[in-house]
Amino acid sequence: MSDDNDGASRDSPPLPAGVTYRGFDGESRLATRGAPVYGEPSSGEWRLWDARRSKVGAMYEQGLDLRLAGDEKVLYLGAASGTTASHVADFSNAVYAVEFAARPTRDLVGVAEERPNLFPLLKDARQPETYGHVVEPVDAIVQDVATRGQARVARANRRFLRDNSKACSPICARATKSSIPGP
Ligand SMILES: C[S@@+](CC[C@H](N)C(=O)[O-])C[C@H]1O[C@@H](n2cnc3c(N)ncnc32)[C@H](O)[C@@H]1O
Repeated sequence: MSDDNDGASRDSPPLPAGVTYRGFDGESRLATRGAPVYGEPSSGEWRLWDARRSKVGAMYEQGLDLRLAGDEKVLYLGAASGTTASHVADFSNAVYAVEFAARPTRDLVGVAEERPNLFPLLKDARQPETYGHVVEPVDAIVQDVATRGQARVARANRRFLRDNSKACSPICARATKSSIPGP
């Protein structure tokens, strides 16, 4: 749980260390510490995590427990231009961010320039064998590929989960939440 909370009014959502609520324009909003990425407002070293632009942010705002304490190694599938992956990198040890479209990956590379723990991979998440040599064992998988066969993608990428770890993965189509056990 975050110990950085500025006393904002929320009922103890299970936030990882490094995620908190801060005041932005008089409103208590979710925030992480890092350089702004998508034009979101910042306050000192904190930047707003806009839940309207991020399913993971929305899940935290809803008080869902993604079982991330902070400082994990994360495999992020479907990183797009890094809106959410950048926030996850703000509170994680390392984020391996897989995206198969070249255009958003270019932006993602720019985002990673300010985040040495964010590793963009221009790869197809349906083919984990093509990045298996780069990705170390991770504590969690976040998946937001928004395509058919998402469950198969999640299964194929289980191989990266550390023993006894679990992944809490928002699967995109209707923002369904699913938990998949580690290997
Ligand atoms: C909804 S967007 C992701 C938004 C992002 N997670 C965020 O919150 O900032 C889905 C992304 O998944 C990517 N994608 C879809 N299928 C993929 C696959 N098989 N491998 C890698 N990326 C994929 C798409 O190109 C798209 O950028």
